[in-house]
Amino acid sequence: MARLIDGRAAAAALRERVARGSAAWAAERGRPPHLEVVLVGEQPASLAYVASKARRAREVGQTAAVRRLPATIGTEPLVALIAELNQRTEVDGILVQLPLPVQVDTPAVLAAIDPAKDVDGFHPINAGRLAQARDPLTEELLIPCTPLGCLMLLRDTLGESGLTGRRAVVLGRSTIVGRPLAALLLAADCTVTVVHSRSHDPAGECRRAEILVAAVGRPGLVGRDWVAPGAVVLDVGINRVALPDGTSRLVGDVAFDEVAETAAAISPVPGGVGPMTVACLLHNTLLAARRRAAGGS
Ligand code: GUN
Repeated sequence: MARLIDGRAAAAALRERVARGSAAWAAERGRPPHLEVVLVGEQPASLAYVASKARRAREVGQTAAVRRLPATIGTEPLVALIAELNQRTEVDGILVQLPLPVQVDTPAVLAAIDPAKDVDGFHPINAGRLAQARDPLTEELLIPCTPLGCLMLLRDTLGESGLTGRRAVVLGRSTIVGRPLAALLLAADCTVTVVHSRSHDPAGECRRAEILVAAVGRPGLVGRDWVAPGAVVLDVGINRVALPDGTSRLVGDVAFDEVAETAAAISPVPGGVGPMTVACLLHNTLLAARRRAAGGS
């Protein structure tokens, strides 16, 4: 049986470190690090994520405000709000919850965020810095939260040098997870393959992986025959599936029960990567506050 990768415990340890850092920063600067979360519309999943981000920020001694905007909003007023948040010196981090409604130009909104306050790491400047980084963690870049959480879990599981030379397969090429994670794993000296919907033999590619990260949003796609015995498997998928009795439950992209029989280690859903995403957001908010105080851009 695979070892369980406990994202809840890892996230609690990271939040503990961020709480200490936030308290020290507040003592020095006279105020805690401050996060602004922008939520457009009322999607239940987004509402839940945003509430949990703001609550966790406050738990670690940061301050957080949620700005709720109507689902009918256009690109211009959204960009104007971001321009205002960029100007305000007491705002350290800005996060715009995705997805945005179809009428909004998402790349334009993300590009409007001051890169120094971009705690999601989605601004093209921060994406470019990550793409070119030799050592993204010591360079203190603002790295997208889910990939950063994945890297931390892999380092916990395999040891700091345990990633070197490993065949890593990233399933999914989104700008939120797949692409930045591929850049991070490459910087960690893995041999990286990105598998996507047009790949000819996704199962065969995944079977070659020593490290497999599934991030496609397809419930249970990765079955036993997709995973080499002894692989380390991270499941980024968070899919709500309906059950016959009318209730629903969260499942990942990996068929957990069957893959857990042969993998060396596996992260569950829920309780795996998800909690690390939020903890990494708090880490990035503290990092943005520190960097801005030191005059960084
Ligand atoms: N929607 C799904 N994941 C994320 C994320 O990491 N950040 C933001 N802003 N929106 C998301």
